[in-house]
Amino acid sequence: MALLFVSSAERAAVWVSAFDAAGEKIIVGEEAVTDPAEITHLLCWTPPKDLQRYPNLRVVISAGAGVDQMPPLPEGVELVRAIDPGIEEMVRDWVVMATLMQHRAIPVYLARAQQGLWKPQPGRHAKNTRVGIMGMGRIGTLAAQTLGGMGFKVSGWSRSGRAVADVPVYGLQDLDVFLSQSDILICLLPLTTETRGILNADLFAKLPEGAALVHAGRGAQLDMQAMRDALDGGALSSAMLDVTNPEPLPADHWAWRDPRVIITPHIAAVTDHHAGSMHALEVIRATRDNRPLPGRVDQDRGY
Ligand SMILES: NC(=O)c1ccc[n+]([C@@H]2O[C@H](COP(=O)([O-])OP(=O)(O)OC[C@H]3O[C@@H](n4cnc5c(N)ncnc54)[C@H](OP(=O)(O)O)[C@@H]3O)[C@@H](O)[C@H]2O)c1
Repeated sequence: MALLFVSSAERAAVWVSAFDAAGEKIIVGEEAVTDPAEITHLLCWTPPKDLQRYPNLRVVISAGAGVDQMPPLPEGVELVRAIDPGIEEMVRDWVVMATLMQHRAIPVYLARAQQGLWKPQPGRHAKNTRVGIMGMGRIGTLAAQTLGGMGFKVSGWSRSGRAVADVPVYGLQDLDVFLSQSDILICLLPLTTETRGILNADLFAKLPEGAALVHAGRGAQLDMQAMRDALDGGALSSAMLDVTNPEPLPADHWAWRDPRVIITPHIAAVTDHHAGSMHALEVIRATRDNRPLPGRVDQDRGY
């Protein structure tokens, strides 16, 4: 078995040492492939156009935590996403920070600071703030546990409505009830056909008046104009976005200059090459042993 890493030698250095130490074969860059038949695993952001070149390809591993950038793969080729607890913890940290910032009205104080205005705002206890998390997967669950531990009233929403310890989780049909109790709405959904554009006017209208939005899922889930209308109309009071629509957000976009919106440029997590290589090695071993692949994506479901 061999992994083809579609990357540069510089980026792949950590990977090469990890694979050498584990006694597994790694080839960096398509131009270095001499025998396409030995490639069984491919690691990339998006695959090369001609996958037929690799007759024994079994698994494509996404370099990112999401797989929305992946085209359909040839029949029989498995898709795996990067699994890295470090990435999950970093996104959790960003989400907790964004939640606390909105809970403590930091967007309002940042705007007042611009005017040198010393003016307190009524405060609220965490126990009186309801946080709703869309997407109760690996990251949503971590965020729920941390925010719950801080005293927030946390609930979740997911496709299955599968229970998570101490957190009430609503299923698809209960979206409206879930939204009506989300003073701070966090989006941690994968981008799929169902979730594209889900943060729209209809959804914002179902939130408690003056709710706050925390978005760390994918940009294409958010209708930015609907968010602006919701901010103007009072359905939303503020928003913190790590992902935007489009991405990157053009320099002249209104959202950069709106004091109610705080944007970070998709930095909630950074790739850790060591963790990535450990995961890829585990995928290779699992393939060899016929075990379930860690991070396997259901390609019909899209996540
Ligand atoms: N900003 C960043 O830097 C950054 C970094 C990493 C990840 N992310 C984003 O975070 C997302 C979540 O990551 P994760 O590791 O937590 O994913 P995950 O473990 O696959 O969890 C996904 C969750 O979303 C739910 N879901 C999927 N489709 C749904 C739908 N149509 N309606 C309702 N719920 C739905 C799933 O429901 P079930 O529980 O029923 O399956 C699951 O709870 C990633 O896909 C990516 O978009 C962002």
